[in-house]
Amino acid sequence: MDDDHTFRRLEMTVLMTPDMANFAGRVHGGSILKLLDQVAYACAARYSGSYVVTMSVDQVVFHQAVHVGELVTFMASVNYTGYSSMEVGIRVTAEHIQERSERHVMTCYFTMVAVDEHGKPHSVPRFTPTTPVEERRWKAAQLRRQFRREIEQRSLDIRLHPDELSAERHEP
Ligand SMILES: CC(C)(COP(=O)(O)OP(=O)(O)OC[C@H]1O[C@@H](n2cnc3c(N)ncnc32)[C@H](O)[C@@H]1OP(=O)(O)O)[C@@H](O)C(=O)NCCC(=O)NCCS
Repeated sequence: MDDDHTFRRLEMTVLMTPDMANFAGRVHGGSILKLLDQVAYACAARYSGSYVVTMSVDQVVFHQAVHVGELVTFMASVNYTGYSSMEVGIRVTAEHIQERSERHVMTCYFTMVAVDEHGKPHSVPRFTPTTPVEERRWKAAQLRRQFRREIEQRSLDIRLHPDELSAERHEP
């Protein structure tokens, strides 16, 4: 590994074993969430060379179940760096070993923050996108960063003023 670009990416493959199953015999959502968090941690910590914590997670949506016996691959990359935060995008695929078929399970985004020994945010190396794919992901991550702020503000408004907002929605 000799440059920024290699340190930005991380791939992990895990066999789904019976201890990860829920009552329906499929893989427990929490097992996947734990793996996602570990991958996001490893990717961001390795890129920044720092201890990092999970600030937020978006778009974890289980459109399809993951099954025991499948090989699940997590492909992570740092898409964007702010001052102390990094957006890590993770693409998840599941492979049916005997059928040799693979499907896309989800793509989600973690915001990880580099912190010092007192838990205070500190700066991370700035990543400069150079390829068209990196530039596209950087721009998309910037838009999501803005969107997160809007959602946070909107959620706060909904929590504090549900009656007013609900009345506004029903006005003709
Ligand atoms: C992460 C933590 C240190 C940040 O502290 P803070 O006082 O909010 O720090 P800041 O306001 O400077 O924000 C830090 C970064 O997070 C970003 N951020 C803030 N709110 C955010 C949100 N809702 N979603 C995504 N990113 C957010 C900021 O934009 C900033 O990024 P930047 O430095 O790249 O611009 C603090 O919130 C914390 O310790 N959280 C708990 C983390 C943790 O324990 N996670 C595991 C849960 S079990």
